[in-house]
Amino acid sequence: MVPAKTFYIETFGCQMNAHDSEKVIGTLIARGYTRVETPEAAHLVLYNTCSIRDRAEQKVFTRLGNFKRDLGNGKVFGVLGCVAQQEGERIFERAPHVSLVAGSASYTRLPEMLVQLEAGNRRVTGLKLETNETFDTPLVRRDNPHRAYITIIEGCDKSCAYCVVPFTRGPERSRTSESVMAEARRLADQGFGEIQLLGQNVNSYRDPSAAAWDFATLLARVAEVTGIRRVRYTTSHPRDFVKAIVEAMDRNPVLCDHVHLPVQSGSTRILGAMDRLYTRDEYLARIELLKTAKRPYSITTDIIVGFPGETEEDFQQTLDLLDRVQFDALFSFKYSPRPNTAALAMPDAVPDEEKQRRLAIVQEKQRSIQIRRNAERIGAVEEVLVEGRNQALGQWIGRTTDNHILNFTHSDPAAENLLGRYLAVRVTRSGPNSLVGESTSVV
Ligand code: SAH
Ligand code: SF4
Ligand code: F3S
Repeated sequence: MVPAKTFYIETFGCQMNAHDSEKVIGTLIARGYTRVETPEAAHLVLYNTCSIRDRAEQKVFTRLGNFKRDLGNGKVFGVLGCVAQQEGERIFERAPHVSLVAGSASYTRLPEMLVQLEAGNRRVTGLKLETNETFDTPLVRRDNPHRAYITIIEGCDKSCAYCVVPFTRGPERSRTSESVMAEARRLADQGFGEIQLLGQNVNSYRDPSAAAWDFATLLARVAEVTGIRRVRYTTSHPRDFVKAIVEAMDRNPVLCDHVHLPVQSGSTRILGAMDRLYTRDEYLARIELLKTAKRPYSITTDIIVGFPGETEEDFQQTLDLLDRVQFDALFSFKYSPRPNTAALAMPDAVPDEEKQRRLAIVQEKQRSIQIRRNAERIGAVEEVLVEGRNQALGQWIGRTTDNHILNFTHSDPAAENLLGRYLAVRVTRSGPNSLVGESTSVV
């Protein structure tokens, strides 16, 4: 038997999930739990799950399957996050050794759910989706000592035809600007130099308090907090990406030179079928705001290939958009049919081999764009935040303001621990996914 009040947690999915786990961990530790590094050593095993594509969803069932034989030895399993919300009590049938199923809209009730588990209840749920609450807690246990996440808006009110998020995370709800600012100041006081504002549609932020700040105002104010050197935000929805956001970024370089603006498709017809609420031209107008701004901004995106009805011509439009915009990075996915979504009922599914072919073409095109764009940076001196160390290669791992990884060496033997420092690095080599350089800073 493993000691009671030990827990293990594995997190899948997006940064919102990663940050939710930091809050869940803090809540457990405050209740006297101890975190352990393996599921074997834990009494309570938690999986914070993602359901965005079928492959992501299957992972949790694979994990749970590995532990079926543990049934009866006292271990307690909990499924949190998007698969929990989507599958609900069906999880108890599929994996009878699970005792807790809770979606993110119920995490404010976590202490109460823990009490029930501790009392021996083996069917504890948190599945209510309609809520106007956000999960804010001072108990967060942050993973990264330099960059801190702040969730500013939860849920999603859009209804993209392919997407489970509105069904797994509930309605959109913003935190008050006052509580966001208080958290930002607290983080700065604790020594975090970088803040990342989070939301599924971060730029749909709408302050519910009388101050009524929009997202651009919130960005500007967070960037003014003393001690904060970098502010990032993700993910922006193109429809709500207004000029005031770019103006706020132009005014204050603390706001990092990077925008992630998922386009999904370059075809207006497919964007309509997806219910993305913008056309190809409207998206390109948003890009133009960034390309004509005061500083160069790195732009990254997400692409879905093989949405139902996507023809070769639609696909060519996506490739053409990649040529035009010249993204700095791109996440591309084969369309995956998801429960509850409108696209499930759409005809003209694209066969998997064809999706695979299109995916490979997108990735190859993007690779050549990145090889060329990264090579253009050779010789430039860039500021990095040092985030890690690669002992094997004798390199430090830095991140530029525009979110590129820049691995570098430092000639000063006194440079013992550079983690968390901001340094100037000259780029000497480049590859499709990263840059290599030498630090020019005196330490
Ligand atoms: N809120 C963000 C997206 C969050 S999900 C936005 O609106 O842009 C992250 C990415 O997963 C999406 O941008 C999309 O490219 C991809 N994705 C979502 N649902 C998917 C599905 N059913 N199949 C394949 N990719 C999907
Ligand atoms: Fe999903 Fe669309 Fe909401 Fe993004 S905006 S989370 S893609 S429904
Ligand atoms: Fe996945 Fe849920 Fe995030 S479905 S991408 S963990 S919002």
